[in-house]
Amino acid sequence: MRILVTGTNGLLGQKLVALLRNQPEIELVATSRGPNKLAALYPEVQFLSLDVTSKSEVSRLIAQVQPTHLIHTAAMTNVDECELNREACWLHNVTAVEHLVAACEAHHVHLTFLSTDFVFSGEQGPLAEGALPAPVNFYGESKVAAEEIVQASRIPWAIVRTVLVYGTAHNYGRTNIVLWVRDSLRAGRHIQVVNDQFRTPTLAEDLAQGCWLVARQHATGIYHISSDELLTPYQMALRVAAYFQLDTSLISEVNASTFSQPAQRPLRTGFVISKAQQELGYQPHSFDEGIALLAKQVK
Ligand SMILES: NC(=O)c1ccc[n+]([C@@H]2O[C@H](COP(=O)([O-])OP(=O)(O)OC[C@H]3O[C@@H](n4cnc5c(N)ncnc54)[C@H](OP(=O)(O)O)[C@@H]3O)[C@@H](O)[C@H]2O)c1
Repeated sequence: MRILVTGTNGLLGQKLVALLRNQPEIELVATSRGPNKLAALYPEVQFLSLDVTSKSEVSRLIAQVQPTHLIHTAAMTNVDECELNREACWLHNVTAVEHLVAACEAHHVHLTFLSTDFVFSGEQGPLAEGALPAPVNFYGESKVAAEEIVQASRIPWAIVRTVLVYGTAHNYGRTNIVLWVRDSLRAGRHIQVVNDQFRTPTLAEDLAQGCWLVARQHATGIYHISSDELLTPYQMALRVAAYFQLDTSLISEVNASTFSQPAQRPLRTGFVISKAQQELGYQPHSFDEGIALLAKQVK
C-alpha cells in the first residue's frame, strides 16, 4: 500500500505519520502546506509540499506519487474563522475536496475524508452514521458539501466523522480541553466550563488508528470514530482536575449561551461507534486513559 496523507503538520496528520511510519506494509508519503514540522523527528519519512486548494498541484502530485490510498485530513478547522471568512472556508473544505476527488478518480485511489460531528444540528446526540446532517454553522455546511462530493464520486471512499479531538503535537499552536483545564487550575485561575453541550471526546491517537483501520481494510461508507463516553465539557474538566489532583472549586459550570461566538455550536452531538467497533475492530481509549496518555506525553 502507498498511503498519501494531507495536512501532516496538523494534529491528526502528525499522529498518522507517527502511526503509519512503523507499519511495514506501507509506503508513506506525508504532505502539508508549509515546511515539514516533523522533519527533525522523522527524517526518514518522505514529505512533499502540497497546498490542497491548488488544482494543478493536487493533480500533479497524485500523478507523481500514484498512491493506493489517500487520507485527507487538511482543512480549515477553526469554526469561527469559517463563519467569518466563508470564501476561504469553502475553498479549503469544499473546492479542495473536488480537486482531490478528481485526482483520485483519475488514478483509482481509495479516499478517506475527515468530517465532523458539526454536520449535525445538535438536537439528537449521540448519533449513528445514518442520522441526517443539518448543520448549524458554516464549517458544518462546508463539511456536508464535501461529504456530498465524496459520496457522488466514482472511487472507493470512506467518510470518517469525528468529535472534539484532543492530543498534543509537535510545534503545534493550539491547546485542548485537557491541557487548558490542567494549566488554568495549576495557575490558580477560575474557569467557566459549559455544562449543556455533549460530546464523545476523541483521543488523537485513536482517530489516527481509526483512519488506518479504514484504509487497511479498504473500507467504504461512513464511520463514526470517537470515544463512546458522552460527556459535557464541565464533566471533562472535573475528570481532568481529578486526574491531576487540582482544585475543582476553581471550575464554574455555565450554559453555552454565556459565550457569544461567531459560529453557533450544536448542543448535543457525540457518536454511537458500534459500527466502527464491529466492522473495523476499532477500540478507543476511555477519557481517563486519554488524559493519562496525554499527561505522559507532555511531561
Ligand atoms: N480537531 C477536532 O476537534 C476535529 C473535530 C471534528 C473533525 N475534525 C476534522 O479532522 C481533520 C483533522 O483535524 P485536525 O484537528 O488535525 O486539524 P488541524 O490540527 O487544524 O490540522 C489541519 C492541517 O491542515 C493544514 N492545511 C490547511 N489548509 C491546507 C491547505 N490548503 N493545504 C494543505 N494543508 C492545509 C493545516 O496547515 P497549517 O498547519 O499550515 O495551518 C493544518 O496543519 C480536519 O478535516 C477536521 O475538519 C477535527
